[in-house]
Amino acid sequence: MRKKIVAGNWKMNGTLEEGQKLTSEIVNMVKDEVKGEVIIVLNPPYVHLQSVKKLIGDAGNIFLGAQNCSDKSAGAYTGEVSASMLASIGASYVIIGHSERREYFKEANEELTGKVKQALGNRLLPIFCCGEPLEIREKGNHVEYVTQQLTESLFGFSEGEMKKIVIAYEPIWAIGTGKTASSEQAQEMHAAIRKHLAGKFGKALASEISILYGGSCKPDNAEEIFSKPDVDGGLIGGASLKSRDFVDIIKSF
Ligand code: 13P
Repeated sequence: MRKKIVAGNWKMNGTLEEGQKLTSEIVNMVKDEVKGEVIIVLNPPYVHLQSVKKLIGDAGNIFLGAQNCSDKSAGAYTGEVSASMLASIGASYVIIGHSERREYFKEANEELTGKVKQALGNRLLPIFCCGEPLEIREKGNHVEYVTQQLTESLFGFSEGEMKKIVIAYEPIWAIGTGKTASSEQAQEMHAAIRKHLAGKFGKALASEISILYGGSCKPDNAEEIFSKPDVDGGLIGGASLKSRDFVDIIKSF
């Protein structure tokens, strides 16, 4: 059985106080309302990681994640944060290759391989993002585009390494636009991703990899999207900044 995961990507939002309030609310609501086996991951900005970790406390189903890490292990890289630093403060997950990092910080497939390597080498579970821009979707080349992203960044890893990677499919045209992919569009791509992974790593391994959907996922569309067989959860942006909405999305499973 593959893991069901709902991860909140806070992006560059919230002061320390706001992050603490949001975390406390989520922790309390999850304790009272969430039954079952969904894994919840909070991905605040770097500076809030330790305070969020403290507030998560012993909640066994809530984990800490970062939004990025360096592809280098240590050294003279001003402003960067290494995977070993993240592991040392109790992070379990790290988002890698978000489309905003690819677009604004010019992260390319090869560099992303290095980041995944660093994450795995420091026992962090990478949440590897992929997804196509609107013009590619309109041309009907979305499956080809996304599978190529996976090939270029991930196909050099061993089966043992691949098993630890979570995939997040986030169509760029659906991020922050309020225009979510339909559940059929999500299922089509998730199934194509799984088939692509099966071609390289085998069917059994591919069937164990969690593939999350991201892009304008809200309480009123999550249930429909999560009901699809190859959708194993969500990577949530805007709605993860509102405790009620985020917990309602978790409860959609
Ligand atoms: P929104 O949920 O705000 O569309 O963002 C999705 C996202 O980019 C999560 O990583």
